[in-house]
Amino acid sequence: MKVVPHVIPYQGSKRKLANDILENIKGFKIDTFYEPFAGSAAVTLAAAARQSANKYIIGDKYTQLMELWGLIINSPADVSIRYSKLWHEQLEEPNEYFLKVRSDFNKDNDPVKLLYLMARCVKNAIRFNNSGEFNQSQDKRRLGTKPEKIHQNLLMVSNLLKDQVELFSGDFRLLTQQATTNDLVYMDPPWQGTSTKKDPRYAYILDLNSLIDEMENMNIKGVPYILSFDGVCGDKSYGNELPDSLQLKKIMLSAGRSSQATLLGRDDSTFESLYLSPALLKKMS
Ligand SMILES: C[S@@+](CC[C@H](N)C(=O)[O-])C[C@H]1O[C@@H](n2cnc3c(N)ncnc32)[C@H](O)[C@@H]1O
Repeated sequence: MKVVPHVIPYQGSKRKLANDILENIKGFKIDTFYEPFAGSAAVTLAAAARQSANKYIIGDKYTQLMELWGLIINSPADVSIRYSKLWHEQLEEPNEYFLKVRSDFNKDNDPVKLLYLMARCVKNAIRFNNSGEFNQSQDKRRLGTKPEKIHQNLLMVSNLLKDQVELFSGDFRLLTQQATTNDLVYMDPPWQGTSTKKDPRYAYILDLNSLIDEMENMNIKGVPYILSFDGVCGDKSYGNELPDSLQLKKIMLSAGRSSQATLLGRDDSTFESLYLSPALLKKMS
């Protein structure tokens, strides 16, 4: 199996779980693999490395992130040069420089500045204020991924995806509505446990009913899909149970120790739930 490159540092990335997730579609020849809540698109990258599908469509509602994806796929060398410039320019006054780039990004929405901000900010967790401005702070102990590493990954990601990917910016339903019985939709919506708080982890808060309605529609059409949803850490569980009428099969994936538990010196293991759709179960039986 090929090494899976990864280029966008993104809190909540499914990078470590991607192979476990894809084990559930082993042997299923997929026409189009859809990832409508893409973020860093970790599962699409792993699927492409395994040649799981003929074509991949990644989408996210956060437009600047999808613009960054466009540059990563089509002009990786250019992104590399510009990222390297930002990274080196920060060295004299890293913390002040971050704040300057953040303020510039909030005016010009430059996707390469977004890449730098994601690499440098606390826990790689993008956060926004009520006016939609990026307001996460810098991680004062780290300078962000080194330009040489970003360069290599940019080229590998672009090579892996460029001839077989389509990018989409907008609501997930516009993608899920296109999917057919020969496709696979992988969904990782913003976490219920975190996204309803005042300061949402991601750019958008998801309306749970819209997700449930869309899963019902896909069930009616017989579209195979996988959903990553709530999380369990120790005896705490996040997220509502989904309705039985969806006929999903729930699987628990071990995601190792949570960073929060590690910080608190506890030994809780984190489990993440994965839900398999009835049409997928039928295909795999
Ligand atoms: C949990 S993250 C996905 C992380 C991804 N699995 C990865 O490996 O990096 C959820 C993503 O959904 C996006 N999002 C939120 N609401 C959305 C919507 N209604 N339609 C499409 N994307 C949405 C957010 O911008 C965020 O990037």
